[in-house]
Amino acid sequence: MIEAKIKALRDELERHNYNYYVLSAPTISDFEFDKMMKELQELEAAHPEFADPDSPTRRVGSDLSKEFEQVVHKYPMLSLGNTYSEDEIRDFYDRTVRSLNEPFEIVAELKYDGTSISLTYEKGRLTRAVTRGDGTRGDDVTANIKTIRSVPLRLRGSDFPEEFEIRGEVLLPWAEFDRLNKEREEQEEPLFANPRNAASGTLKQQNPAIVASRKLDAYFYYLLGENLPAEGHYENLQAARAWGFKIPDVICKCQSLQDIFDYIAYWDVERKNLPVATDGIVLKVNSLRQQRNLGFTSKSPRWAIAYKFQAERAETRLNSVSFQVGRTGTVTPVANLEPVLLAGT
Ligand code: IVH
Repeated sequence: MIEAKIKALRDELERHNYNYYVLSAPTISDFEFDKMMKELQELEAAHPEFADPDSPTRRVGSDLSKEFEQVVHKYPMLSLGNTYSEDEIRDFYDRTVRSLNEPFEIVAELKYDGTSISLTYEKGRLTRAVTRGDGTRGDDVTANIKTIRSVPLRLRGSDFPEEFEIRGEVLLPWAEFDRLNKEREEQEEPLFANPRNAASGTLKQQNPAIVASRKLDAYFYYLLGENLPAEGHYENLQAARAWGFKIPDVICKCQSLQDIFDYIAYWDVERKNLPVATDGIVLKVNSLRQQRNLGFTSKSPRWAIAYKFQAERAETRLNSVSFQVGRTGTVTPVANLEPVLLAGT
């Protein structure tokens, strides 16, 4: 049966996508994968009656361009209050102690420096992906998000809520960022200043085939919905991992202020070995009941806070200043600096 064959190929390719992009543990060679993908593409082309918008063949992106539709967020996408010192973290902690007046746990996570995204799943299928936009409404970038291989189009298992949202960060890994900028330099195109700009610029591309070629990744850190599996944020993220999402395994439950400071000290150094950019850590009260009790200010939750790592600095010599004349006659002064190593670059 052709239909059964198509379905078996789809399931198998999706399983290998998961092994490769989420678990980073492929079990077949790229060659075997490509061969299987080609077979599926040919079968689908010959049998359009068995088309499926969630087929792994759709992840390569189509050439269709369309304007993005704007969508109102069911839950607004707020930002986090920023802190820059241990004292400010102590203030947050003490405030939480006073407001809750009962024991609580804090979940510490890395703050990923990409562009945020909110995905809606209904009956285990990805139905919509929306950018943060102005926090109230964002762009529908579903077609682009579907090209990210680590984003599940269909969930694993069956114990997920009928409908929920999951939020995370779309990231362009450092290696891809370097490759992309090298390519742009060769083609005399303007370079991306950092992976964050590259990720958000890529997501706003009207052509999903270009997005597919850029090898974005997505890490998730926040689950929203009426029927979540657990009462704790940490436990919900563990469940989401089992459904197939890439949930960073560096998240950690802290029982004291000292645990939090230890986490920060460790990751301030270790983050330089990660494949993606991070710019701080995020602290969240674990219990959803306690989160509701703490509530929100107009801009951000009272149950969470961000701590920003100190930007790296270095001193170097100004060798010379040259003046670039653009096509339209504008003159841009350029400082030529002695190269220096900064943040691994
Ligand atoms: S939680 C209501 N967790 O930082 C709180 N955000 O200024 C929802 N971010 O817009 C956000 N890593 O784009 C959360 N582990 C993390 C994060 C994270 C990066 C970004 C996110 C958000 C911004 C907050």
